[in-house]
Amino acid sequence: MRKIISVISVLMLSGSLYAGSAMAENAVAGDVNGDGICGVADLNLVNDYVLGKIQFSENQCYSADMNGDSRVDSFDLVVMRRKLTVADAVLPVGKYTGVSENGIRHYTFFEGGGNYIDDSTGMGSLFAWEINGNNITVHISSAENTTNDVIEWTDENHFNIVWEDGTVEKFSPNRVEVIDGVTYIDGILIANKSYGLPVNYNPNGLTAETQKAFNEMASDASKDGLCLCVYSGFRSYIYQQQIYNNYVSLYGQVTADTFSARAGHSEHQTGLAIDVNCADDSFDGTPEALWLAENSWKYGFIIRYPKGKQDITGYKYEPWHVRYLGKETAEKVYRSGLTLEEYLGIDSVYK
Ligand code: DAL
Ligand code: ZN
Repeated sequence: MRKIISVISVLMLSGSLYAGSAMAENAVAGDVNGDGICGVADLNLVNDYVLGKIQFSENQCYSADMNGDSRVDSFDLVVMRRKLTVADAVLPVGKYTGVSENGIRHYTFFEGGGNYIDDSTGMGSLFAWEINGNNITVHISSAENTTNDVIEWTDENHFNIVWEDGTVEKFSPNRVEVIDGVTYIDGILIANKSYGLPVNYNPNGLTAETQKAFNEMASDASKDGLCLCVYSGFRSYIYQQQIYNNYVSLYGQVTADTFSARAGHSEHQTGLAIDVNCADDSFDGTPEALWLAENSWKYGFIIRYPKGKQDITGYKYEPWHVRYLGKETAEKVYRSGLTLEEYLGIDSVYK
């Protein structure tokens, strides 16, 4: 997997993106060799392309882009394999979180049915579902209340349901583990307004992996003539409490909550977060900020609080605050274009 990802990175960097060009007319999704169907030969071609063995024409790129994200990569292989095995018509079993423009819902899918709880209303509904070609028919609460919807897998763990009314709900597996009071979702340690850390959680500084990744990143940035340094790294529960209380006394709690975490809720307490160079708006738009936004994922970091996502992350835009996730996860989150909350299907709200 690592190898495939690095090949993809090279392809991406060498300009294999083709977003913005006109779609080939009458293209059959997955028909890379132009024989009118999506078959095993097409799957092999995409595989070779992803491995860097062959090049594609622009039209082939369109056909091979199964998930429509304007690039051809291993995610398209997964979707194509599903299409060939008609596995699109498989609904997941287990706990998933669905995020759409209408909010967040927590689903439990059982064989043939399940339930969901709506985060905003707290209301739940039971449903039964059945496969209908590559679509699904959902009977919500009663057989009379039926919708015909489409399920689209985007990778092996994530899928969308395009509901009959056009709403797209994005699903992520909801695997929550709490170990010694620390919450991990899909194995990712999470600290936000919804998920806090114990008072005594203290890695005694940035984790070694985070520090190493940062050093590597700073070293590469310096080759571009840029200077990246740790302005604020690890912050203990007590230190965060002092910072937050100070902001509350200066600006009031409502405002402080838009940019400062309450004690026990700061990512800085995890030893996985760094404020780079400074922590105010003067950083925005600097060459360092632009470099960080473009490159930090390659070293395992994401810009944790992107612009315009305050409703989702709980915080105003912080171009300086990076969170270490490890290279593989950071790349996936970066390419998804989602915040970590959206990617994991969680919220960030004090409860
Ligand atoms: N500024 C971020 C949200 C923190 O206080 O952790
Ligand atoms: Zn920060």
